[in-house]
Amino acid sequence: MEEHVTVPSVRRRKRRDGADPIVMITAYDEPWARLVDAGGVDLILVGDTLAEIVLGYEDTLHVGVDDMVHHVGAVARARTHALVIGDMPWMSYHTDPYEAVRNAARLIRAGAGAVKLEGGRTRVAAIRAIIGAEIPVMGHLGLTPQSVHSMGGYRVQGREEAAARELVEDAKAIVEAGCFAVVLEGVPSVLADMVTAEITVPTIGIGAGAGCDGQVLVLHDLLGMSKRPPPKFVRRYAEMGELVSSAVSAYAADVRSGAFPLDSESYLGSAELRRALAPAESATGGGTGPAG
Ligand code: KIV
Repeated sequence: MEEHVTVPSVRRRKRRDGADPIVMITAYDEPWARLVDAGGVDLILVGDTLAEIVLGYEDTLHVGVDDMVHHVGAVARARTHALVIGDMPWMSYHTDPYEAVRNAARLIRAGAGAVKLEGGRTRVAAIRAIIGAEIPVMGHLGLTPQSVHSMGGYRVQGREEAAARELVEDAKAIVEAGCFAVVLEGVPSVLADMVTAEITVPTIGIGAGAGCDGQVLVLHDLLGMSKRPPPKFVRRYAEMGELVSSAVSAYAADVRSGAFPLDSESYLGSAELRRALAPAESATGGGTGPAG
């Protein structure tokens, strides 16, 4: 395993050239970033799913650059091995390319090694501008959650041949603009396979089948901690939600019964201090009522 994952090393990781699949996962804060980094992932995505997974909103449209900077900083302080990708939130790259560069730079200053943004040919100007400022860009095509309203909901994309061919053209355009990898979300496997074959940089799938050059999942989905019902492409590797609730109920029961804390979990004070501060009745060994 390389010591630090870098953009050039990711760019080369095509499975057809014998590379191992890329492992990407989301994280949004220091403890989880530390744990997923120790788990050996290649890429940590500070996704704009922050909005839903951590902040309790219904969709990803509710986070801004300040929120992302805050959480990218926390993740970047934890990681040692993985490359940290900062997701560009909705409206941070849609108005003009200069604004896009300034916002991407804020994520880089917070500790990201690259940024990710959604969209195809309509985003080429922003992608070129950001890359022109020496900031690596990961693309994101297919079911792009920031387009929830224009898609009419979270629907698998590219099911019809015309839409599938449009998506392949989008992928080629953003790779031509300089993206070093492309996330493919919510597309038929056959389309993901075609994009993976047609472009020179790795594809990273989420709900896009087994043929991509890598996979990404939302951490809280795979740990069984999300409020939202898991989509069919999520495999649950743990039931952390249940584990956490039962640990907290055990703590609550112990506090209520007096079983927590024990003397061994307390700072008792020196024998001298205890003698000096002991209530008079216990010092004399007598009485349970208030001292007269
Ligand atoms: O924001 C996010 O978590 C993402 C992944 C689902 C790819 O974009």
